[in-house]
Amino acid sequence: MNNKYWYKDMVFYQIWPRSFKDGNGDGMGDLYGVYEKLDYIQSLGCDGIWFSPLYPSPGVDCGYDISDYLDIAEEFGGMEAFEKVLDGAHKRGMKVIMDLVVNHTSTEHEWFKKSRQRIEPYTDYYIWRPAKPNGKLPNNWDSLFEGKAWQWDDVRKEYYMHLFAIEQADLNMDNPLVREEVKKVLKFWLDKGVDGFREDVITFISKKEGLPDDYIMPASKGFNYFNHGPHLHEYLEEFKRDVFSKYDCMTLAEAPMVTPKKALQYIDESNEPVLDMMIQFASQEADCFFSDYSHLPFSLRKLKRAYTLWQTGLEGKAWNMLYIENHDHPRIVSRYGSDAYRAESAKMLAVSYLFLKGTPFVYQGQEIGMTNWYPKDPSLYEDVQTIWQYEHVATNKSDEKRLQRLWFGSRDSARTPVQWSDEKHAGFTTAEPWFHVNENYKEVNVARQEKEEDSVLNFYRKAIQLRKQLSCVRDGIYQEYNKYSSKLFTYSMTDDKQRILVVCSFSDKNENWKVPSGFDLSQAELILNNYKDTDTTQLKPYETRVYLMK
Ligand code: GLC
Ligand code: CA
Repeated sequence: MNNKYWYKDMVFYQIWPRSFKDGNGDGMGDLYGVYEKLDYIQSLGCDGIWFSPLYPSPGVDCGYDISDYLDIAEEFGGMEAFEKVLDGAHKRGMKVIMDLVVNHTSTEHEWFKKSRQRIEPYTDYYIWRPAKPNGKLPNNWDSLFEGKAWQWDDVRKEYYMHLFAIEQADLNMDNPLVREEVKKVLKFWLDKGVDGFREDVITFISKKEGLPDDYIMPASKGFNYFNHGPHLHEYLEEFKRDVFSKYDCMTLAEAPMVTPKKALQYIDESNEPVLDMMIQFASQEADCFFSDYSHLPFSLRKLKRAYTLWQTGLEGKAWNMLYIENHDHPRIVSRYGSDAYRAESAKMLAVSYLFLKGTPFVYQGQEIGMTNWYPKDPSLYEDVQTIWQYEHVATNKSDEKRLQRLWFGSRDSARTPVQWSDEKHAGFTTAEPWFHVNENYKEVNVARQEKEEDSVLNFYRKAIQLRKQLSCVRDGIYQEYNKYSSKLFTYSMTDDKQRILVVCSFSDKNENWKVPSGFDLSQAELILNNYKDTDTTQLKPYETRVYLMK
């Protein structure tokens, strides 16, 4: 019998292809490199892979600007290399999910090229509006990446909407022909054998009728008019009915600003869900507001509120997606942990989320505790969003402050090549890499950590293996302790057979610790920890422990 909830037993690994591994020696990560590393990924205990976009793309937003949905980019090895990887993954019992980016296409996509010339049936594939009589933009919405959400097109003599980069034109999902195209894309990949999709900013696909001006939001104007828009549920239902329901596949929707209550409208398992899981952002906002670029001091209480809200909010109704890193946020050790206690805090951060209920995702390089990259020269940054922010946000600050904003707020901090060894270019490539390698690669790399028994890498392996053995992590109920502590995160998971107590110190000092009442440590087995000796009244910097109660 097929288990339709197979993803509940899995741990996924996210590959951001440009920086994972170069297999053909041209400086750019590719699918040959992925093929070489399938055993490595499996050795982590990961049994699923999420690929950030692999499709042909001009690369303005590193692949999130797609110019052909039905192919694989040459630079990644083309379709042949993809099929080999897919087959190799399936042979190992691993699942593969693709990124589905259908809020927008690249302006290099054929549909856009025809739409701007009003060639049917493409005329209404995008959101075109004439200029207002007074020459003003069609409305006052902001792009999340570059200025206002409108760009003038000299061919069509109209504006098109772009919620992201100028070269990412928003599709008009209200047009049934566009929805048919999306379904064609879904079927194409599912027929090829992929096991599901991570759906990029899918909650933005339905814009409020009439595209009204936004007089409420002080910044990111329009957000409330395009996030969870009027027809979102209806379109997702249509994709589910016409495509997903006919395949054994999983869907995971990226959902900025979503709350558990809102999420349940889409993922409640007892109520004809239109999606399987959603990617919440609350747990990424403990050191910033809305965008990582607005860097604030880290607040553990904010982080704990996010975890507790989602663990309890979905309990018994829907399934969480768990993550601490991806390609859109700087490295977690440098954010919620400490570069000075790199290994200790990387291990603690692993425990902080790997024993929660849900399906965990591990982002490439996270498993060896990669840190942010601290270049001295702002011109080295590549990311379109970062470059715009640097040029337009807080420009009155000192050069030093602006550089720090890049270090702690740029997506590029997590996009440097994976550090495979201490060889040249960190063993990522034999050519000049497309992007800069973090200087700490001699110290932080996979080859070295393979040899060290207590490395971050081996800790991840152990933690993932343990999580898979513990029924209380998969089926149990979450409870939080020391709720008001700004240093310690303590939680338990309990099912009818088992109970674990998880302790995480987010402090760079020793912290006094009191075992929560109801737990007798003389009756417990310490199954995972990151220091050699343990003291029941004190925790060392970034110490973490998992106890199995007897
Ligand atoms: C999502 C992606 C991000 C991309 C954006 C536009 O947030 O994760 O990388 O830039 O959508 O597609
Ligand atoms: Ca390559």
